[in-house]
Amino acid sequence: MSVVSPENPVQSSGFGFAPTENQKMISEMIRSFAAREMTPEKVMQYDEAQQFPHELILKLGELGLLGIIFPEEYGGAGFGYLEYVTAVEELSKVDGSVGITVAAHNSLGTNHLFQFGTDAQKRKYIPGLAGGKELAAWGLTEPSSGSDAAGMLSTAIKDGDHWILNGTKNFITNSHTGSLAVVLAMTDRAQGNHGISAFVIEKGTPGFSAGKKENKLGLRASETGQLVMDNCRIPYENLLGNVNEGFKQAMKILDGGRISIAALALGMAEGALEASIKYSKERKQFGKPISDFQAIQFKLADMATEIEAAKLLTMRAAAMKDEGKNTTKESSMAKLYASEVSVRVASEAVQIFGGYGYIKEFPVEKFYRDVKLCTIGEGTSEIQRVVIAKNLMK
Ligand code: CAA
Repeated sequence: MSVVSPENPVQSSGFGFAPTENQKMISEMIRSFAAREMTPEKVMQYDEAQQFPHELILKLGELGLLGIIFPEEYGGAGFGYLEYVTAVEELSKVDGSVGITVAAHNSLGTNHLFQFGTDAQKRKYIPGLAGGKELAAWGLTEPSSGSDAAGMLSTAIKDGDHWILNGTKNFITNSHTGSLAVVLAMTDRAQGNHGISAFVIEKGTPGFSAGKKENKLGLRASETGQLVMDNCRIPYENLLGNVNEGFKQAMKILDGGRISIAALALGMAEGALEASIKYSKERKQFGKPISDFQAIQFKLADMATEIEAAKLLTMRAAAMKDEGKNTTKESSMAKLYASEVSVRVASEAVQIFGGYGYIKEFPVEKFYRDVKLCTIGEGTSEIQRVVIAKNLMK
């Protein structure tokens, strides 16, 4: 079943307080898929083994989720950000590792090609990626430049009708399974962030390899590793957009990417809340379910209220993106708030589960580990505050 069918034409995504028909359809489709394919046993198995769920991701590709935000003419499903955010949220309720894999592929790697590639580049790369046969990675961060993204050391030097790239990208999602990566490199160091350019590099290019794969606290089934460029020679036409415009391109891509991290955080927080409500009704102490105690009810009430607020910020940013508006501030607000909420919610969920929250047989142990990434990846909470404040002062 594909997410696109004639009965479900692309809808205008005007943001109301109720989900659109397309959002409802995507939620239902993912819920029934997850009930079959993402059982708690499977999710924990992949997590424990730090195993990337290849088969599962291929099946998500068949559902159209690896090209959800790209037009049908490029092999995508032709939906907007509201539907995309709903998909990431639903997947992350069950397993954040799957949520982040789909998110990084759609909104970072593939979207950079879609936003800044020429028509020829788009036709060459996007159908395979959006059709779900291949995954994209995106490389901005380096071992010595995280928050200070423009402090990168990677270089790209023009050599006739080629570029020669050197450097290492760090903490890259889909580093090993990606069939290509969009990477940022210095083309004119003297110009600082105005001297950075973006390139697409295909897997198998001599001098381009996946390096160390990280052993992580959470989101362990998603793949995070290094990309190494060692005198990697690529054709001149692998440049994306104009020379020295890569930093602004990357910031624009992160405007979209940060909405996905908000959706990832939101989904995991919702998953932790659902599990907490269920458990609190089942667990008896002092002769009654712990959900009868106000101490537990107040925790659940705060968790639910903060989740609703995070959802409103996330959906507002997504709706603005669908309307073609600038979302720099709103994306950062959604990402900052939703990620901090997910950490608080997961912590309270473990508290509600008590000792059972601390062991792996129950789902909240994993949520507790997984959510922390959201306050760090695609810009820390501190960087989101920098971005929001800069926009307030404009
Ligand atoms: N849209 C368009 N332009 C933007 C922009 C945006 N959102 N943000 C900044 N710019 C422009 C500015 O207007 C400015 O333009 P001019 O110089 O022409 O005036 C230029 O870009 C430089 O902006 P700043 O002066 O604000 O740049 P800065 O060096 O001070 O950095 C920063 C700003 C917000 C701290 C930025 O470096 C940043 O976001 N850092 C965090 C990076 C990040 O999120 N990294 C995670 C990447 S994820 C990854 O790599 C791995 C993966 O797989 C997930």
